[in-house]
Amino acid sequence: MKIITIMYSSKDIPKITTHVLQEMKLKGEKIAMLTAYDYSMAQILDEAGIDVILVGDSASNVMAGHKTTLPITLNEMIYHASSVARAVKRSLVVVDMPFGTYQGNSKEALSSAIRIMKESGANAIKMEGGEEIVESVDRILSAGIPILGHLGLTPQSINKFGTYVVRATDDKEAEKLRRDAKILEQAGCFGIVLEKIPAHLAAEVTQSVRIPIIGIGAGNQVDGQVLVLHDMLGINQKFSPRFLRRYHNLHDEIKTAVFSYISDVKTADFPNEREQY
Ligand code: KIV
Repeated sequence: MKIITIMYSSKDIPKITTHVLQEMKLKGEKIAMLTAYDYSMAQILDEAGIDVILVGDSASNVMAGHKTTLPITLNEMIYHASSVARAVKRSLVVVDMPFGTYQGNSKEALSSAIRIMKESGANAIKMEGGEEIVESVDRILSAGIPILGHLGLTPQSINKFGTYVVRATDDKEAEKLRRDAKILEQAGCFGIVLEKIPAHLAAEVTQSVRIPIIGIGAGNQVDGQVLVLHDMLGINQKFSPRFLRRYHNLHDEIKTAVFSYISDVKTADFPNEREQY
């Protein structure tokens, strides 16, 4: 069998698919992923050339102001996901399955996944967990819905962990993570997010599986990176984990713009003659 290697950069690809991400891993081209929850931001990210947009259940924190990701509902995730999908031409759109829609019952998991795909127009879903959710993973995959796994710090299990500290630092948890990554790969997931685990363990898992590994707080020996948009833009300033690189200080920039607007209105400087009819 002749294997043809196609040389490309992801920027030249008209639409990113799960297959393209696989090719990027093989080529050693890093995958860039960010979250978005609304039409306008998704449009900017897509135009900028982001490979994957994650409609994360972090919307529960950054959009709705909840303390955890647990309260966000399936209907709310579908609302965010459909807003993002309408804006996107090129990026792969992945949607988090919210807490409580897939953990206990694989039939319910499938109907939740089908609702997300049908009603939002997204390309794939993401689910937290390994061995314990594999029945749901199998059922959803057999319906032709691509799945991105999520291991390490899984925020939907915060009440079990009790804290957001680095995961898999002891041998037992590291071994379970290695095993879960293999289980998800064998089940047919197209990739796995590894959150907040030691860099050496993430590097080892990345070498041991053929599917792309996307890290967040997992070092740079992985196939790609993901950050929460509001954190990396500096909109949300209360969250400062070591793994977060801030690319902007939008919190202060927006505040300065709003101060100027208030002052212009109060002093009757706005609108001026050119800004009226
Ligand atoms: O919900 C989210 O934003 C996520 C990322 C942190 C990976 O799951």
